Amino acid sequence: MVSRVIPVDPFDLVIFGGTGDLARRKILPGLFRRFCSGQMPEGSQIIGAARSDIDDAEYRNMVSDAVEEFGGGRTCERGTLEAFLDTIHFVTTDAKGDGGWNELNGKMRPDCVRAFYFSVGPSLFGDLAERLHRFGLATPDSRIVVEKPFGHDLKSAKALNATLAQHFDEAQIYRIDHYLGKETVQNLMAVRFGNMLFEPLWNAQYVDHIQITVAETVGVGGRGSYYDKSGAMRDMVQNHLMQLLCLIAMEPPAKFDPDAVRDEKLKVIRALEPVDWHHVVRGQYGAARDAPSYREDVENPKSSTESFVAMKCHVSNWRWAGTPFYMRTGKRLKARTSEIAVVFKDAPHSIFGVDAGRHRNVLAIRLQPNEGMTLDVTIKEPGPGGMRLLDVPLDMSFAETLGAEAEEAPDAYERLIMDVIRGDQTLFMRGDEVEAAWAWTDPIIADWVMRNDVPKEYEPASSGPEDALMLMHRDGRKWREVKA
Ligand code: BG6
Repeated sequence: MVSRVIPVDPFDLVIFGGTGDLARRKILPGLFRRFCSGQMPEGSQIIGAARSDIDDAEYRNMVSDAVEEFGGGRTCERGTLEAFLDTIHFVTTDAKGDGGWNELNGKMRPDCVRAFYFSVGPSLFGDLAERLHRFGLATPDSRIVVEKPFGHDLKSAKALNATLAQHFDEAQIYRIDHYLGKETVQNLMAVRFGNMLFEPLWNAQYVDHIQITVAETVGVGGRGSYYDKSGAMRDMVQNHLMQLLCLIAMEPPAKFDPDAVRDEKLKVIRALEPVDWHHVVRGQYGAARDAPSYREDVENPKSSTESFVAMKCHVSNWRWAGTPFYMRTGKRLKARTSEIAVVFKDAPHSIFGVDAGRHRNVLAIRLQPNEGMTLDVTIKEPGPGGMRLLDVPLDMSFAETLGAEAEEAPDAYERLIMDVIRGDQTLFMRGDEVEAAWAWTDPIIADWVMRNDVPKEYEPASSGPEDALMLMHRDGRKWREVKA
């Protein structure tokens, strides 16, 4: 197969927090997969930087273990892992002191693209940015990559943006939301703007409502101290679900370029109406026979943090006036599934009479697992018995339809890291976008605090609290089933 990947020049990538969980689980295995696919040009180097007192050999062992454990079973030609490990180095570096910075500088090559991945807590962003300048590591061609959570609220996000802006231009800052790196999320744009079929119907006149579901089966065990201060609203809605909503609701950008796309997303966030508290449901998972409750997981018996949120939102503009967007996300649910469903309106008049029942076209875009799309269309039920109608899905699983090409698609982190090296910010959040998202989220959270809201307990392995079902039922609508 002819590779259609845009080649990149050799680069130096420094991973601050290079021994941490994200580096081990995502960043390093992702880089290895790109290396196997021949997309890490010869002469590139990856430098882990952290406080640990280890040398190159010890770090390479750690990287090798990480690749084996989290590499997704990618098999390469013999010797590939060794060749990959040769590109890896380690420098003991103190983010809050001056130790290691000169040595790190000594490792960087003058003429390459430099990317600095801040895989550390946001409290260190300012220290790292300042030292990159003071020790002369930041060149005009340098980029920094920052992870979520980007702030805890609007105030802290503004402060972070201001800190980074002291040392780097916006064009050098890559704020990661890994949902934007998912294949199907980008497919949303391809489906909308690459086809004639959908866009003319993509508005309040034809769309009854939209559902966004991101359901997980995992609990928060192991991440309790972070999660209990955050909750589903900050952890998932403010970023991942908001980005999905933007891609569905935005106007067509004039071209597929970073600012054109991000300008349109920003307009959507700014058009979101404040959410009425009657339209938000919070939940917290209880205990199962074989699994602890949320409160046990976070070791906080009185926690009132939500592990589930469902809400109804409105995008107040000409395209979407009156079309509700229902979003829900939660942990310890029945199945791991993420899906966006565009539910079209009924045909204006049924020539088949009331007995034919209600039939609606639904375009469902599955993000995971088994990425793909289905379009429910109404047909005549086969066989005798008159004109009975039936909804059947036109089903397309990308893996089945596209075979190996779909299976080899890079995972979100791999794609995003290579975009950083290419200097393409399209799939990264701009500072104003993040701030606008917090400006919409903050009042919802403030309202819970003011009302001492306690989340509804829901059964593990369910679809969430009963009230979330009611949110839809009250409107004469129904959530699509959460199923794998
Ligand atoms: C992360 C959240 O950003 O996304 C986690 O912090 C969540 O709580 C994860 O589990 C979900 O990502 P994915 O790719 O597994 O759907």
